[in-house]
Amino acid sequence: MTTSSINGAKKKKVAIISTGGTIAGSGRIGEAGMYTAGVLPVDAILEGIPQIRDQIDLDMISVCSKDSNDITPEDLFAIKEIAEDLEYDDSVDGIVITHGTDTLEETAFFLNLILNVSKPVVMTGAMRPATATSADGPMNLYQAIALAANPDAKGMGVLAVLSDTIYSGRDLTKVNSIKTDAFEVGDPGPIGYMQDGNAYLIHSPYRRHTTYSWFARSVPDHLANVQIFYVHAGCDPKLLQYMLDHYDGVVLAGSGSGNYAKDIQEVIENYEGNCVIVRTSRLLEGAAFESPVFDPKRKTIAAHRLSPHKARILLLLALSYNMDRDRIARLFKEY
Ligand code: SIN
Repeated sequence: MTTSSINGAKKKKVAIISTGGTIAGSGRIGEAGMYTAGVLPVDAILEGIPQIRDQIDLDMISVCSKDSNDITPEDLFAIKEIAEDLEYDDSVDGIVITHGTDTLEETAFFLNLILNVSKPVVMTGAMRPATATSADGPMNLYQAIALAANPDAKGMGVLAVLSDTIYSGRDLTKVNSIKTDAFEVGDPGPIGYMQDGNAYLIHSPYRRHTTYSWFARSVPDHLANVQIFYVHAGCDPKLLQYMLDHYDGVVLAGSGSGNYAKDIQEVIENYEGNCVIVRTSRLLEGAAFESPVFDPKRKTIAAHRLSPHKARILLLLALSYNMDRDRIARLFKEY
C-alpha cells in the first residue's frame, strides 16, 4: 500500500476541466431534490474548500456546463485535446474533470481509452447540488485535486474519486440514485481510499488504458452507431431485428451471463449482415462468457465483465476505426 499526502515541499498545480453536473448544480437553499445541474462555475464550489489554494495552484478550463446525460462524443474529444496539451505543460502536475454522476462512468471509460496522457487524471462529481445542506461536492473536489497532485496516481489511467473512494474509470458504476455513496466497482474492488487529502492506494488497473491504449493514438474520422438491446422476459425479437438492420453494432444487455430467449437467439443465428453483436450481462457482478448454449454458431462477441454501456463504448470506438470482428473479439480480452 502506498500512502502519500498533498503536504509535500513544492507547490503543485492542477488543472480543473469542468463539464457541469450536480456538483455545479444550484437550487432552493438547503434542498437536495429540486435543482438545475451544471449552472455554477467551479470557483463557486471551491469556496467550500478555502484551504485548497494555499496547498495547490489551480487552473480552470470549462468545456461545457451540462447535465451529463447531454455529454457528446465531441465534448469527450474536446477534453482529449485539452488534456493532451496539459500533458506537455511542465507546470501542470495533474488534471481533474468535474462531471455529472449519471454518465460519469461512461465518460471515465471513454477517456480511459482515448487519452494519450500519463499524468494523473481524476474525475469527480456530486450527488447533492452545491446549494444543498451538506453538499458532497466540496469534499469530492478537494480529494480529486489532492489525488491529481499526487505522483502516485500517474500512469493509472482515468481515475474517479467519490465518497472517499478511488475507482478505476474502467470499472466504476453508479448504483444508487439518491445516496452520496453512489458508486461501486463490484468484483475488481476500488483502487484505493482517501482520507482528507491523503491517498491510500491498494492496487493498479490491469487492463490497457490511456498511453497503452491503441485508441489514444489518433481521432477517428467518423463515429459508428452502436446501440444497446435490453433483454427481458417477453422482449420483442422484431426490435432486435430492426437494430441489426440499422446500426453498425448492437450490444445485448443479456440476463444472467448474457442470455436471452429462444426467439431472440433465432434472430441472432439467422442474421448474416455486417452489424457486430456483443453479448454482455445486465447484472452488476459476474460476466458474460462465450456460450455454446446461447451462441453455438459464434455470432456474438462476449464482453466478459464490461457493463452494456461500457461495452458499447469499446465497440463504438473499434467500429469507428473499421476494425474487423476477430480484432474486436481480441479487444474485449485486452481492455
Ligand atoms: C448529471 O449527471 O449531470 C446530473 C446528476 C448528477 O450529477 O448527479
